Amino acid sequence: MASCLWQYRLRILLCVCTPCLLLACLFIYVALAVCLSMTLSISPVRHPVLSTFFKASGTTNVGTMAPYPIKPFWKHKLDKEAHWNLIQQILDRQHNPLLQQRRNDSQTGSDLYNTTSGSEQHREGCFPNYEMIWTLSDFFSLPSQIQRFLISMHCREYPLLIDQPRVCNQTLEKSQDGPPMLLLAIKSQAMNFKNRQAIRQTWGRSGWVKGYSGKGGQVRRVFLLGKNHSGHDPVSVENLREESNKFGDLIMWDFLDTFYNLTLKDILFWGWFSKNCPDTRFVLKGDDDVFVRTPALLDYLNDEEEVRSKKSGNGKVMEDFVVGDVIISALPPRLETNKYFIPESFYEGMYPSYAGGGGVVYSGALVPRLLEVSKRVHLFPIDDVYLGMCLERLGVVPIHHPAFLTFDFPEDESKEPCAHHTILLVHKRSPKEMRKLWAKTIVPSRKCKKVLLRDKLFES
Ligand SMILES: *[C@@H]1O[C@H](CO)[C@@H](O)[C@H](O)[C@H]1NC(C)=O
Ligand SMILES: *[C@@H]1O[C@H](CO)[C@@H](O)[C@H](O)[C@H]1NC(C)=O
Ligand SMILES: *[C@@H]1O[C@H](CO)[C@@H](O)[C@H](O)[C@H]1NC(C)=O
Ligand SMILES: *[C@@H]1O[C@H](CO)[C@@H](O)[C@H](O)[C@H]1NC(C)=O
Repeated sequence: MASCLWQYRLRILLCVCTPCLLLACLFIYVALAVCLSMTLSISPVRHPVLSTFFKASGTTNVGTMAPYPIKPFWKHKLDKEAHWNLIQQILDRQHNPLLQQRRNDSQTGSDLYNTTSGSEQHREGCFPNYEMIWTLSDFFSLPSQIQRFLISMHCREYPLLIDQPRVCNQTLEKSQDGPPMLLLAIKSQAMNFKNRQAIRQTWGRSGWVKGYSGKGGQVRRVFLLGKNHSGHDPVSVENLREESNKFGDLIMWDFLDTFYNLTLKDILFWGWFSKNCPDTRFVLKGDDDVFVRTPALLDYLNDEEEVRSKKSGNGKVMEDFVVGDVIISALPPRLETNKYFIPESFYEGMYPSYAGGGGVVYSGALVPRLLEVSKRVHLFPIDDVYLGMCLERLGVVPIHHPAFLTFDFPEDESKEPCAHHTILLVHKRSPKEMRKLWAKTIVPSRKCKKVLLRDKLFES
């Protein structure tokens, strides 16, 4: 009986005291924490004093590399062995702002920073770099276009054969005030006269283009050309000069107009634009077999500009603007029969996010920045990927817009009556189709008038 009572008391004691004990522990813990934090905040916190420039201790200098810290600070082994990655890692390191201190430190090392790696372009022309034959182990087994690209990839300055210095500067209408809103920069080839004519007469008309809903804007047009394959044929250049005199919209550079040379059109165009169109607000860079709903594009761009400037209230809002059909996490195709083939010995890893080259729109303010950064990015044979590489280094993220159909409509959607009223741009269309589509979309039928752009369609 007594032991029973005893057990009963013990149980009561346990029931009452366990929470008490736990509470006491909690109290002690909280008190300690508060005390500690108080003592910490009372004693002056000593932040390490950072100098204006970061100087990594133990930098070292070897051969062709820019200096790097001896201690593991970032990976100093080049982990990609493919040729482009290798030479680009060197350039990236040379332009790493953390390491710029060295430039001020030692004048002797300064020449290290202006080597654009590999052979420098010669003043009086650019000579093929045959060292490439030994640089890539599988050079001889590569397709000849890639071989040609490799031995001339250090050359990026080619003279203009036909220029249009006043395209952005001319006043086409009395009412025009200020520079053009949009420059259409269309990659064409000498023999594609029919495409150019169709574009001139339809979506590429220069002058004031009215929007569907908005006011519209001034539009200008240039075609970007290289030399014809049989470029020694003087007649072809003469023909083009004639065409240029008649329409005032051809720009031609003295390089071979091949697929793997398209990147040259980008960087040479950026230079040309920075010089001749500094105040033009937008650029559409696209192929000569796309169809663009220019009035809708102008509406979209006017809206974007307005929304962005309202949001931030400063004039620099459009500096980072790139929009198109954005492709993310793409891998280079390794099949030699693929048009976009890139050998493993040349490039390793994923592509940065990039907008499909059929048609991409960016702000004029971005162009001088692209031109600057492109000097630090080795030429890459695929032009839209190259733009992606430059954007990545500028920290600019391209905006994906579903109304840019650089891979055409999904399935049979294009046959639907109002399909082309939902797009800004579609690839690819023949000159004949361009004319048909233009006639159909410029004055939309009552049924198609109310159709929304594809992004709005998907939202609802
Ligand atoms: C390096 O660049 C600086 C400034 O652009 C220039 O003055 C200098 O001549 C260049 N050095 C070499 C070796 O190219
Ligand atoms: C370009 O070269 C091809 C092949 O030699 C030729 O047939 C064509 O006429 C040339 N293009 C122009 C615009 O002259
Ligand atoms: C690009 O153009 C240059 C100059 O005309 C030429 O030497 C080179 O072979 C071309 N590259 C390709 C890949 O066609
Ligand atoms: C454009 O025209 C203005 C005056 O009409 C002139 O001052 C300016 O130099 C021209 N710019 C170019 C690139 O020709």
